[in-house]
Amino acid sequence: MRVLGIETSCDETGVAIFDSSAGLMAHALHSQVDLHAAYGGVVPELASRDHVRKVLPLVDRVLGEAMLGRREIDGVAYTAGPGLIGALLVGSAVGRGLAWAWGVPAIGVHHMEGHLLAPLLEPEAPAFPFVALLASGGHTQLIEVQGIGRYRLLGDTLDDAAGEAFDKTAKLLGLPYPGGPALARLAEGGDPDRYHFPRPMVDRPGLDFSFSGLKTFALNTLQRELPPDVAAGPKAAQIRADIARAFEDAVVDTLVIKCRRAVRACGVQRLVLAGGVSANRRLRRRIDRMMAKEGGEAYYPRPEFCTDNGAMIAFAGWQRLRAGQMEPLAFTARARWPLESLPPV
Ligand code: KG4
Ligand code: ZN
Repeated sequence: MRVLGIETSCDETGVAIFDSSAGLMAHALHSQVDLHAAYGGVVPELASRDHVRKVLPLVDRVLGEAMLGRREIDGVAYTAGPGLIGALLVGSAVGRGLAWAWGVPAIGVHHMEGHLLAPLLEPEAPAFPFVALLASGGHTQLIEVQGIGRYRLLGDTLDDAAGEAFDKTAKLLGLPYPGGPALARLAEGGDPDRYHFPRPMVDRPGLDFSFSGLKTFALNTLQRELPPDVAAGPKAAQIRADIARAFEDAVVDTLVIKCRRAVRACGVQRLVLAGGVSANRRLRRRIDRMMAKEGGEAYYPRPEFCTDNGAMIAFAGWQRLRAGQMEPLAFTARARWPLESLPPV
């Protein structure tokens, strides 16, 4: 079975083709970063309109790369939620429409299930069961995964997502959108011993997260350490890098502590990291070390599939379509959608 996947939940248009025997045949991505950069964040209406412009050309591009005709697609998967509703409606309408025109089944994919299954696209895929940390711009969740669609939420953020905290703190540091990768680069040159940020909620039992306090802590540190005269002086760049490093260490430490707690609580040896924040190099190093000490192993998508992409949607959709699941002709896009409500495969 050969499935076309379409991702349009936020600010990237991603399209890919996944095939039962050939695996991932082609994938293409258009990022809207330049479009939104001037506004310091995603402008939903601009995002929707750009998806309209890009999605069909990208479909043609992946068909061309895979050397396939439109009639050689057996099913269409599109992100149906969670995400920006206008953006979701574009991919859902196009995906559902193409499937109808081609006379093949269609399925609306849960964006976070896409992230969660993305490590299964790698040659060394994790076996079930595993614990997954989904850390993106909108989510920070720990999930016990017994199989596809068999998810138990172990912990969630009570306020900002990890990626959101990266983005907001990056903005305070004067870095361009999207802030996460820029902050991580700035932190490379930072002194880890200069400032110490709190590790939120690690001294309490449980697996929930809270990151909004870190952003406030960063703001207070900035105001204290960088009054206007210092901010204009030669030491400002180093201070910013040191604050970035202290922030990153606090987020990474907090995520590592909660991941260790989760794998111990579930008695599993496999931990999967996915979502944009899982591209963070310091986080990966620390998670690898922690899992080695626990006698287990950590699994990640390749860096380009940590952030939003069409491959993970084609793959997740293929898993469900080949099990016979499909959607009626009417489609539903959902801005909010609990992962645990998905049916098992
Ligand atoms: O999964 P994703 O592409 O989109 C959502 O579904 O949200 O995640 C994007 C998030 C952004 O907040 C971005 O700043 C963060 O992932 N991110 C990173 C890194 N790369 C992306 N955060 C920290 N370090 C990185 N290297
Ligand atoms: Zn995402």
